Amino acid sequence: MSNRAIQSIRGMNDQLPDACDRWQTVEQTIREVVRLYGYREIRTPILEKTELFSRSIGQQTDIVEKEMYTFTDRNQDSLTLRPEATASCVRAGIEHGLLYNQAQRLWYLGPMFRHERPQKGRYRQFHQFGIEALGWPGPDVDAEIIILGTRLWQRLGLADIRLEINSLGSPANRARYLEDLRTFLESRHDELDESSRRRLTKNPLRILDSKDSGTQAILGDGPDLASYLDDEDQRHFDCLLEHLERTGVEYHVNSRLVRGLDYYTGAVYEWTTASLGAQNAFCGGGRYDGLVEQLGGLAVPAAGFACGMERLVELYSQQRSTTEMVGAEVWMIMLGDTAAAIGYPLAENLREAGIQVVCNCGGGSIGKQLRRADQNRALFAVIIGDEELENRRFTVKPLRSGEEQTSMTEDRLVDFFLAQRNRDYSVL
Ligand code: HAM
Repeated sequence: MSNRAIQSIRGMNDQLPDACDRWQTVEQTIREVVRLYGYREIRTPILEKTELFSRSIGQQTDIVEKEMYTFTDRNQDSLTLRPEATASCVRAGIEHGLLYNQAQRLWYLGPMFRHERPQKGRYRQFHQFGIEALGWPGPDVDAEIIILGTRLWQRLGLADIRLEINSLGSPANRARYLEDLRTFLESRHDELDESSRRRLTKNPLRILDSKDSGTQAILGDGPDLASYLDDEDQRHFDCLLEHLERTGVEYHVNSRLVRGLDYYTGAVYEWTTASLGAQNAFCGGGRYDGLVEQLGGLAVPAAGFACGMERLVELYSQQRSTTEMVGAEVWMIMLGDTAAAIGYPLAENLREAGIQVVCNCGGGSIGKQLRRADQNRALFAVIIGDEELENRRFTVKPLRSGEEQTSMTEDRLVDFFLAQRNRDYSVL
């Protein structure tokens, strides 16, 4: 048997403890913000029947055509690791009767899988935080979702982000547009870039997304999606934009914005940033009024978005310096067996009061133990040595502030550490 070290699968990443600290802060902020708007969490399985995705995302999309992790299980059922979670939320809503005479504000966070070419910001296992509002037809809920997102980016301190928004119109109007677009692009077939030529027969709408400047210039001569919207589509879109203006949300209408999944109807949007390199969209969504019915439910209108967590955490980290990250509140240094006999119960008493204590394991000189505490970015060391045992007072050494060490009796320790909680160590 080989004893070669085994590596993780390409495009599937470990998140190490420092990264997890940042993820947890972002996740905590998400939980606080969704609660403010009354959204409730839903957790669905990571594996679903393949049909769920082929019937919702669309047969001709990149995701279904070439990116899904699909396999046949021991019962010969075709299963797929979910590439997104909107379809799963809709399936769960139908299956459990959540959409029957009621509406649902849902959110989720979890791993998704797409077999894409890995690069910075694009992975094969990635995570999405998503919002789905099922049961409301009006633009008020589209606005609510966008405002929620905006509040989240503000809370996380993200800078230089841009909201691009478009309306795809009703399926019937979009079909008219698609037909005209295809006829027009076929007439200019030879001038298109190679990937747009491939998309022409299968999914011409995605050509609007082309990064090729020649193709973009050609599109300028073609039919304009905005002029295919009917009064109803236009009213919905205008009303959504008015809501955004009233709440001070800045947006940019981009009539070439399309999405990579087929289920959208009406308003679609993406938040982008220049700070992530090629993968500039970190959150995208829109309305998908036909999907519930398409998956076997009643005609229930719906809207939502999903945000790539890796991209969001990266944006959050770019605004933060590493000095902000602090380790345990207390690092307990015990010099000798008698010190340990007192130190371990003392550590339990502090933990009982909610204080985070890491006991130095493995002994060593005081210098070595203090170095370890420092490397682990602990805020304070509590030192128990001969002198402390004799005086029944513990030495408390601040490790991040440069302040003088003090000594105190056990009964004062809890209050002392709790009082340190409100200090901002990022400025020290
Ligand atoms: P999506 O645009 O396919 O939409 O994905 C949403 C976000 O997931 C993207 O903006 C990106 O940040 C992240 N993402 C996608 N693929 C990858 C990848 N390979 N690596 C890293 N991040 C990635 C949806 O999935 C829809 N379900 C959104 C939605 C919800 N629409 C309505 N409700």
